[in-house]
Amino acid sequence: MGTRLEGKVAVVTGGCSGIGLATVRRFAEEGARVVIGDLDDTNGERIADEVGGAYVHCDVTDKDQVDALFATAKERFGSVDIAFNNAGISPPEDDSILDTDLDAWRKVQEVNLTSVYLCCKAAIPYMLEQGKGSIINTASFVAVMGAATSQISYSASKGGVLSMSRELGVQFARQGVRVNALCPGPVNTPLLRELFAKDEERAARRLVHVPMGRFGEPEEMANAVLFLASDESSFITANTFLVDGGISGAYVTPL
Ligand SMILES: NC(=O)c1ccc[n+]([C@@H]2O[C@H](COP(=O)([O-])OP(=O)(O)OC[C@H]3O[C@@H](n4cnc5c(N)ncnc54)[C@H](O)[C@@H]3O)[C@@H](O)[C@H]2O)c1
Repeated sequence: MGTRLEGKVAVVTGGCSGIGLATVRRFAEEGARVVIGDLDDTNGERIADEVGGAYVHCDVTDKDQVDALFATAKERFGSVDIAFNNAGISPPEDDSILDTDLDAWRKVQEVNLTSVYLCCKAAIPYMLEQGKGSIINTASFVAVMGAATSQISYSASKGGVLSMSRELGVQFARQGVRVNALCPGPVNTPLLRELFAKDEERAARRLVHVPMGRFGEPEEMANAVLFLASDESSFITANTFLVDGGISGAYVTPL
């Protein structure tokens, strides 16, 4: 048990699986009270009990539910110090622009981008009142690099998350509110496994571009999020925080 987040209250969306779940556990290990917002009612309460936090059923595309999520953190635990706006989807119907219809495009924009707007809009007023806060929004390495194996709405949504985070970080820098974008490389989570289960060739094509030659683990993302959430990163805001096994720095990778 550490103390790096002692006394802090954190909201984590998408906290029932993958990167979000690993971060919920890491935050709790470091002393934070964690409020999880997710759709997964089967696991949400159990995970909240495990970490001594709270679970709120929350569809991150719904403004009232998002507002209620952050209000729960304030009412139950007294503040909103950290927001990890992380819930996201990567459905197979989002593919090349030639094959992706408008419904698939809109669904991904709602869950991946509009949700981050709603969460930041809900969190920032609490943080301004406190004079401090740290927001971490999950973007992706595809926000800074193009892929021939396209998921057009996903990439566009993550580009939006990245530029929104940067702008908010600049706007609120003098009021003590830091906003950073986490840009993971490919991470071994249900989201990625589902995407590649049907297409091994696609997975292999991705892996060849990672200098480290492997996918990241959720715990490796959680450690980066912990750093951005804690006061250790006090001079870091509006940042593109790439945690990608070297992908974005590589031109040729080792054999
Ligand atoms: N896994 C990767 O390779 C990778 C790479 C870069 C970025 N990311 C991003 O990281 C984030 C987390 O991804 P993951 O791989 O851990 O995914 P995951 O599928 O393991 O977990 C996503 C969680 O979000 C929840 N969720 C989905 N839609 C929701 C909604 N409308 N409202 C509330 N909760 C909802 C799910 O129930 C689930 O618990 C996503 O934003 C994803 O785009 C993932």
